[in-house]
Amino acid sequence: MSRLLILAVLGTGIWELTTATTGNEMERLSSAFLKLEQTLERGAPASPEDVGELRDAASTIRAMRPETDDAFPAFARTGAVLADLAAELGDYSNDGKLAAARETLESIRSECVRCHLAHRDRNDERDLYPATRNTIWGRYSIAAMDGEAREDRSDVVAFLDAVDGADDTPPSRIRRISQRGRAFSPRVLVIEKGATIAFPNDDDVFHNAFSRSKAAPFDLGVYGNGTTKYRTFPDPGLVNVYCNIHPDMACTILVLDNAHFAKSDSDGYWVMTGIPDGTFLLRTWHRHGGGTEQSVELEGGAIVRIDETVEEDRRTVPHRNKFGRPYRSKY
Ligand code: HEC
Repeated sequence: MSRLLILAVLGTGIWELTTATTGNEMERLSSAFLKLEQTLERGAPASPEDVGELRDAASTIRAMRPETDDAFPAFARTGAVLADLAAELGDYSNDGKLAAARETLESIRSECVRCHLAHRDRNDERDLYPATRNTIWGRYSIAAMDGEAREDRSDVVAFLDAVDGADDTPPSRIRRISQRGRAFSPRVLVIEKGATIAFPNDDDVFHNAFSRSKAAPFDLGVYGNGTTKYRTFPDPGLVNVYCNIHPDMACTILVLDNAHFAKSDSDGYWVMTGIPDGTFLLRTWHRHGGGTEQSVELEGGAIVRIDETVEEDRRTVPHRNKFGRPYRSKY
């Protein structure tokens, strides 16, 4: 069950920022993005200079202090994410993996559009570049079982079911779930079917990632620091992953049918852009329950805001080890 609130088309900025603080930085970031976009569209690899320009411009966002300090954590976080994505795009370009570079560019695009819709004022008067086709966005709240609103609103997943004519080629970009500090990071990873995930062990102890899920059972075996194992996920479904050595380690992979999905950031914001015209079923998933669905109609470059409250209705229960037995109390 969830309360639904569909707000007006076009969002309103929440934090007013002065042109003086962000104008020039944004021009630099925008022209760097545009160059990469045009180069990759031509089917050419991005040059190290253009990639470096985007990375440097992203670093200035990370250091930027918006007028209202409230937006500072979001700016710092997005700046760091953009710099990492720029580096990833550069690596793929260097290796001649242009399909993967283009997928990484789409992730960068989503970060740009998410920040504009969440933190930029007067979006209805401005061009929403670099958004393409139709865009849906919103802000999730999470209500815990005791009714309290959760401060951390991250990891709610929005996705579109059965998009006719969606591109069927499996993704080329390799996603990562790191094992570090006796935890999986990220805690929730959403991928399109056919994608491959790298599982590096970045810890100083051994780990053994495994899943007993129906969709994709696997056991990567025990391995130590510096080793990376890979797994491809051909079928849609929910894949809970644990470590056979450390019972507190858990993460979830949501394997979806198409690339039209988004995950909320810690402030609850999410955005999906590049959606074709049509009527779609928009669904919500959260690991503590509260999944919702509704129909959305999109046409002609629409921008639709959908805010929802996800009401948790599931607790985390202890899981079993890879042999289906309880963990020993000492490990
Ligand atoms: C951390 C938040 C954030 C991110 C990330 C971000 N922007 Fe912006 N952007 C802003 C804000 C805020 C403004 C408005 C600045 C102002 O009011 O002068 C803006 C303005 C712009 C403008 C000027 C148009 C206008 O009228 O406001 C363009 C173009 C632009 N951004 C492109 C991009 C591109 C391309 C990316 C991604 C590579 C990007 N931005 C990423 C926050 C962001």
